[in-house]
Amino acid sequence: MSMIETSAKPMGVWKPVPLREQLTETGEKTPDFFVTPGEKLTLSCIKADVGSHTGHVQPHPRMLLKAEEHLTEAIQNKLIIDGVVFRVGDDINLAMTHTKGIESEEIHKLAFDTFVASGKIAQELSLYGAMQDILVSEFSGNVQGMGPGVAEIEFILRKTEPVIVFAADKTSPFAFNRPLYNMFCSPYNSIGLAVDPKFFTGFKFQVKHLKSGADGFFTSPEERTAIEAFLGSEEYAVAHVYSRRIENEPVAACSTTRLSFIAGKYVGKDDPVCIVRSQSGLPAIGEVVNAFHFPGLVPGGMRGSSLRPLMPCSIFNCDPTYNDGPPRVIGLGFQINRGSFIGPTDLLGDISFDESRKLALQIAEYMQRHGVFYPGVLPDKELEYGGKPVIYKIYEDRFPETYRKFKEFEKKHTEAEAKFIHEMEDSD
Ligand code: 13P
Ligand code: 13P
Ligand code: MG
Ligand code: MG
Repeated sequence: MSMIETSAKPMGVWKPVPLREQLTETGEKTPDFFVTPGEKLTLSCIKADVGSHTGHVQPHPRMLLKAEEHLTEAIQNKLIIDGVVFRVGDDINLAMTHTKGIESEEIHKLAFDTFVASGKIAQELSLYGAMQDILVSEFSGNVQGMGPGVAEIEFILRKTEPVIVFAADKTSPFAFNRPLYNMFCSPYNSIGLAVDPKFFTGFKFQVKHLKSGADGFFTSPEERTAIEAFLGSEEYAVAHVYSRRIENEPVAACSTTRLSFIAGKYVGKDDPVCIVRSQSGLPAIGEVVNAFHFPGLVPGGMRGSSLRPLMPCSIFNCDPTYNDGPPRVIGLGFQINRGSFIGPTDLLGDISFDESRKLALQIAEYMQRHGVFYPGVLPDKELEYGGKPVIYKIYEDRFPETYRKFKEFEKKHTEAEAKFIHEMEDSD
């Protein structure tokens, strides 16, 4: 019997590791720089797509190693306490702990420089979408508004601090609306809301109107239905959730960038990142991850133009392939020990999400089989790729009104975007 010989090896998978621990393991000295319980700590999670292969699937390992080099140097220079580089699909995520507070220029510059260095590798290798999310040539104080997505919280470190960082690819900040609502407001998802007196007090939601950047604050449980009304719409997303028991203590944060509103055109989807603190008066880990068990439909997927299910995945299985998707979400659990990361645990990779993945794949196929027929693609006004007016223009003689209306809509859209950019520049 003949044997088929092959030199094929399984594709390498990126394993995210806490960089301080990695330094110690390799015998390097790390600076004595820690935060003790009762003191303030900042957790920043900043992400960008700066190029990938093949197409929009994954960053090259050299790009991730370059990002690790930058964060390791920042640990040695005492700029950050710890850092972890991880990826979901084609997005590079940097999780960093430090004491500089949110929106720190130094931390944002570190993230910006790291993404530019990784993006340069993508350019050298002629990868797809190199520097996709870097919309400006120079850093000017805050990466928000320059392309990358940012979720940050500054909080008083507890004696034991479980946190989860979620990152999703091929979708938008809307993807976290229902999960966050369920974790913090629904006793059907989080029974702790009705059985734990510390959890019962409720939370304050900062809801952002994505296009104008306006914020509205709502308290649960009193305003639960209003929170649902706004978060049910894809025009709004959760920016922060605050505790009410410990007034204004942040317990969750989400990136709320809409790239198309910044660039004025489609430049890739605003794949979001989200931080959630857990336990002791907050949702238990199980209640946090429960919220992703149902693979609900989210905008994203093929060409950023379709509704597809959000599939919970392992960090080792997060390459969007079938139909450029389905949109994926991963969850990295950490314990924070004096500011350093312990972990991660690959929370959505567990077998208890196998049935969700199966359901997600069935829904993805069901949606895909609609082809371009609605709801296989999003309605005209939500389409991310601007090609449709060109087609309407070619056939203007058949439906002059359609083209005229579309043009009018596009004009309004552009004016609103211009206003938003203008206001952002003014607030600098
Ligand atoms: P804590 O109140 O210690 O967070 O425990 C709740 C829990 O984990 C039950 O699932
Ligand atoms: P990304 O936003 O992840 O780059 O995806 C682009 C896309 O449209 C894939 O179909
Ligand atoms: Mg991409
Ligand atoms: Mg992406």
